Amino acid sequence: MLDIQKIKRIIAHLRVKKLPQDIYIEQLRSLVTGEGMLHAGTPYLINHAIKNMPVGGTVIEIGSYGGLSTNLILYLLKKNNRDEKLFNCDPWIYGGQKESYTDTSNIDGSDDITCADFSKYVKESFIRSTKFLNSNNLPHSFHLTSDDFFEKYKQNLNEKDLFGTEVQLGEPISFAYIDGNHAYDFAKRDFENVDKFLKKSGFILFDDSVDGSYFGSAKFMKEMKKNPNYKFILKNPNYLFQKIV
Ligand SMILES: C[S@@+](CC[C@H](N)C(=O)[O-])C[C@H]1O[C@@H](n2cnc3c(N)ncnc32)[C@H](O)[C@@H]1O
Repeated sequence: MLDIQKIKRIIAHLRVKKLPQDIYIEQLRSLVTGEGMLHAGTPYLINHAIKNMPVGGTVIEIGSYGGLSTNLILYLLKKNNRDEKLFNCDPWIYGGQKESYTDTSNIDGSDDITCADFSKYVKESFIRSTKFLNSNNLPHSFHLTSDDFFEKYKQNLNEKDLFGTEVQLGEPISFAYIDGNHAYDFAKRDFENVDKFLKKSGFILFDDSVDGSYFGSAKFMKEMKKNPNYKFILKNPNYLFQKIV
């Protein structure tokens, strides 16, 4: 029997706004590892944020996995003639079917593939897809948790990214896509870290924040809706907010 949360999720899915047909975006899912990572409504939200974000800041992505959202963001930056640079971070740890990331020895359902094998495989997939799809426009990617990334960001450190480019961290942020550890404390801390650097009129998009989801990131939306410094823009069905002060 269907429960109320499932019905809510189905309705949200049916009402989703989509970008006009774009063959490049359609084929992206088959070119990278992790095709199911992106909700059908998320390209619309990312495009809205990129199109309307304040000029000159950075774009931040927390949680890159195999590069689906990374390569989508890079594509939409180009399509909207925006030259802001994308910075992203991921520790490439195995999440499994549960909400919190664990370091058990094997991946779910396997007695021979370790979490370390998984981590190496997905990170290599990320590098491969990003070099294949965006060799002339590589992001500044870091093998770090978001907490460690922001520690460096706060200190304005000069760091070498995964692709070998040295870059200065700490620029104001124009748009952040939060899609790392979805547990409540992590989603809240990712927000607080982004908030310190987010420009006025900048955007934050929370993945897995859809109403009725069991993720902590979805529970955190209750607080976001009450935050006087942020305007709710749209849920499609994930939540997009804009900073207003
Ligand atoms: C849902 S996946 C991201 C999917 C990706 N955005 C895409 O569209 O393909 C979540 C990612 O968050 C990463 N992650 C887990 N804990 C993290 C943390 N503390 N900081 C940053 N990323 C984290 C995981 O390694 C995983 O690759």
